Amino acid sequence: MTKTVRVDLGERAYDIVVGERLLNKAGDYIEPLVPSKKVIIVSDETVARFYLHRLTNALEEKQIRSRSVIVKAGEGTKSLESFGNLMETLLEQKPDRHTTLIALGGGVIGDLTGFAASVLLRGVNFIQIPTTLLSQVDSSVGGKTGINSRFGKNLIGSFHQPLLVLADVSTLPTLPKRELMAGYAEMVKYGFINDPEFFAWLEGHAAAMLSGDVSLMSEAIARSCAAKAAIVGEDEKEQGVRALLNFGHTFGHALEAETGFGDTLLHGEAVAIGMVMAFATSVMMGICPQADFDRVLAHYQTVGLMESPLSIRTSWSISALMEHFTRDKKNKDGKLTFILTKGIGKAFITQEVNRDLIRDALARSCGA
Ligand SMILES: NC(=O)c1ccc[n+]([C@@H]2O[C@H](COP(=O)([O-])OP(=O)(O)OC[C@H]3O[C@@H](n4cnc5c(N)ncnc54)[C@H](O)[C@@H]3O)[C@@H](O)[C@H]2O)c1
Ligand SMILES: [Zn+2]
Repeated sequence: MTKTVRVDLGERAYDIVVGERLLNKAGDYIEPLVPSKKVIIVSDETVARFYLHRLTNALEEKQIRSRSVIVKAGEGTKSLESFGNLMETLLEQKPDRHTTLIALGGGVIGDLTGFAASVLLRGVNFIQIPTTLLSQVDSSVGGKTGINSRFGKNLIGSFHQPLLVLADVSTLPTLPKRELMAGYAEMVKYGFINDPEFFAWLEGHAAAMLSGDVSLMSEAIARSCAAKAAIVGEDEKEQGVRALLNFGHTFGHALEAETGFGDTLLHGEAVAIGMVMAFATSVMMGICPQADFDRVLAHYQTVGLMESPLSIRTSWSISALMEHFTRDKKNKDGKLTFILTKGIGKAFITQEVNRDLIRDALARSCGA
């Protein structure tokens, strides 16, 4: 069964198609969008080894001529230097304004290719074929593209919406379990933000879904995309409500920064812990029922999500973590911005947080 989620952005509107074995049928979806029949696929070495041939075969069936550019796997590929190399390699293929780029891979490939598409010959079309759970529920939706600077992650980028997103759940079985769980954190986040029914559904189905039930997985991915699309549709350029998508991220980013943005702590793992910290802080403030927090913790146990910074490191420097909050991009006029919650499905954005309280919550979560 295939599900389609429409991202409603006026003339930049597009479909996200979620389902099984979509790569094999990719030509059917892509052909109407690429009248020039010329595409360049960008993928990483790992994903290309598993899935590139399926995509090129499917395109060939529709007489779409494809070339491929394969880059190294991993966050390092979002550097300015590898972006420069990618641009030169793309230009070597003599693209024209009608060439379409296809991103085949996780969030790294999507962000890099999307950004390349937004500046190649002053902008060409692109299509996303996300192959990690994180990219299927999060990074491929909403049109943020970008690369990293030595001053921080995603600081160089653009908003550039794709023509189409094909989320093929049949690519997920090869994904390492840790990456799958990191993606799951971003999925359950939508329940925490504003969809308590979705969280309840996940309480009932996530364990089976994460053990390989593809039909449950398709349903949950489509629901996640719809949740993100609704928020992005309201606030494409992040002037307001889109910031809710950062639930758990302020805490999470601080942990990621302290662990060096590497394999010690994946982004989704940091977010999983960050969301627990957001609940814990909200409970301490007396605005979130303890019972909701208990449900969250029980769910983490059931599915095996990381719930504490202590599982990474036995002690943390609270002042170092506080320092990261002070530098957060979302802060306004020197006031810290946090996404807190009044309970499951009731997240909200606030500038009214007491620094001492945040410090206390950190100290409790970090065992200090
Ligand atoms: N643009 C946005 O809105 C947005 C949102 C969230 C995250 N992001 C970005 O997304 C990136 C993280 O994305 P990610 O977690 O997908 O990481 P990733 O792209 O690095 O993929 C993780 C690893 O899994 C491998 N892989 C991918 N698909 C596979 C498959 N089907 N089978 C086996 N291995 C596979 C990759 O080669 C890589 O080694 C970060 O750079 C982050 O900044 C962007
Ligand atoms: Zn995230």
